[in-house]
Amino acid sequence: MSIQHIAVIGAGTMGNGIAQICALAGIRVALVDVADEALEKGVATLTANLERQVRKERICATDKQDALARISVTTDYALLRDVDLVIEAATENLELKKRILKQIDSVVSRHCIIATNTSSLSVTELAAVVTQPGRFIGLHFFNPVPLMALLEIIRGLQTSDATHTVALALAEQIGKNPVAARNSPGFVVNRILCPMINEAIFVLQEGLASAKDIDTGMQLGCNHPIGPLALADLIGLDTMLAIMESFHQGFNDPKYRPSPLLKEMVAAGYLGRKSGRGFYTYD
Ligand SMILES: NC(=O)c1ccc[n+]([C@@H]2O[C@H](COP(=O)([O-])OP(=O)(O)OC[C@H]3O[C@@H](n4cnc5c(N)ncnc54)[C@H](O)[C@@H]3O)[C@@H](O)[C@H]2O)c1
Repeated sequence: MSIQHIAVIGAGTMGNGIAQICALAGIRVALVDVADEALEKGVATLTANLERQVRKERICATDKQDALARISVTTDYALLRDVDLVIEAATENLELKKRILKQIDSVVSRHCIIATNTSSLSVTELAAVVTQPGRFIGLHFFNPVPLMALLEIIRGLQTSDATHTVALALAEQIGKNPVAARNSPGFVVNRILCPMINEAIFVLQEGLASAKDIDTGMQLGCNHPIGPLALADLIGLDTMLAIMESFHQGFNDPKYRPSPLLKEMVAAGYLGRKSGRGFYTYD
């Protein structure tokens, strides 16, 4: 089964990137969000990213136009009726995702595969919400989606071999390198990455070094391309907090408790790049 038509739920940091790469790969995309403003912002971001790719001569102007022509935006879930695959990339919140998945499930055809881009929640638990859990899978993209080569593929307990095969074929279709991971909070990469970022926030909170020096230290001392605090701003501090809370709860282990500074910044609305202020400020 080759994927021709997908829907992406959520036009935020991840959703607009997923829409962009799928449209560039020739797939028709319906981008869905709750509000027109979120859709406008998502399309503006992906259009700017495509323009940058044209300027860098990675794609030509026609590729950009063709990709944009393949993307439609809507707040109406009823339009998911004909898609081959839905990728849920909405806010990291278990109850919200369950609600969205029920909504998706009520409109899609029985041939449709439903995927979640969750960073940390249980694929098995989310699969249990839909009527055909065998056709449910975790497709965990990395941020920024157009640049990051990895696609973690997570099977829930219920995921069928056929669904996994389609997910592998999709990875090839969109030029991502698939890695299989078992269902466990944070799967593999975030299980390692997010506690490291959380620790960097503890280090900042304890006043051991400035944000800039923590980041410079990890860049120059560990050869990381971007420091952990700048990466937290890129991920979104609300998403980081949701991930750490889900680790803390899922493993029932205090070593995963989110840093109080992270909680306070989220309470203040300092969410990183998406709000213009996090550990750094952005235009
Ligand atoms: N940010 C990252 O680095 C990253 C990386 C990999 C995976 N993820 C995961 O991707 C998902 C999305 O994260 P994000 O960073 O893009 O979040 P975000 O806050 O940037 O965007 C979330 C979007 O979901 C929309 N939304 C909320 N409720 C909705 C609904 N009922 N229907 C449709 N849209 C709805 C919001 O309006 C918003 O536009 C989360 O599960 C997150 O854990 C995030």
